[in-house]
Amino acid sequence: MIKLAPSILAADFSILGKQVKIIEEAGVPYLHIDVMDGSYVPSISFGSPIITSIRKNSKLVFDVHLMVEEPIRMIQEFKDAGADIITVQAEACTHLHKTIHQIKDLGLKAGVSLNPSTSLNTLDYILHDIDMVLIMSVNPGYGGQVFIPNTLQKIRDLKEKALKANATFDIEVDGGITQDNVNEVLKAGANVIVSGTSVFGGDIRDNIDRFNQAFRSFKKENEVMDG
Ligand code: DX5
Ligand code: ZN
Repeated sequence: MIKLAPSILAADFSILGKQVKIIEEAGVPYLHIDVMDGSYVPSISFGSPIITSIRKNSKLVFDVHLMVEEPIRMIQEFKDAGADIITVQAEACTHLHKTIHQIKDLGLKAGVSLNPSTSLNTLDYILHDIDMVLIMSVNPGYGGQVFIPNTLQKIRDLKEKALKANATFDIEVDGGITQDNVNEVLKAGANVIVSGTSVFGGDIRDNIDRFNQAFRSFKKENEVMDG
């Protein structure tokens, strides 16, 4: 099933609750929540209090992307705040296997994110431990960047790796995805699409409709069963 995961980094925080509601009413399943510590990535975004406050009024799947040093320290905090999925940067974890299992032991889904230059081999011994792989199509830290083209080959390689290992995890792609390039990303093998600027920039409802239109034409072109 193809899922859109709007990134609230691009939202207007002065009316965040209202904008999350629009996302939910549009039938979008995921909300991508970019936590940045100003150390692992150059900028600071927000912490768990923001999640706690929007959790009260939302049933969306909270797809929390921790762009922080040693995220193992904060798994419990973000679980308590209402995360459903916690994705960590492989490069930020001294003990990645242990971090993944801490997330799963708390009953959450575990994702691993790879920066543009990080090899897929990093995943070789955890392919059956993870629920999702996030392929960064920009260098993390900011919204509104341009999609890095060689990400498409990386997604295809990951898809092949998963098939060979008979591993079943979602493939999420994040950064610079628009209604115009999303078809390429889906064709390469992604099924969870993060988008910030192309959802929150302008009319949110209209932007979501255009993504859904792109998803429908992809499915029609590729006869993908929407399982
Ligand atoms: C970047 C974040 C992305 C970003 C996506 O570090 O992980 O989720 O917010 O924003 P756009 O879609 O504007 O590139
Ligand atoms: Zn993200």
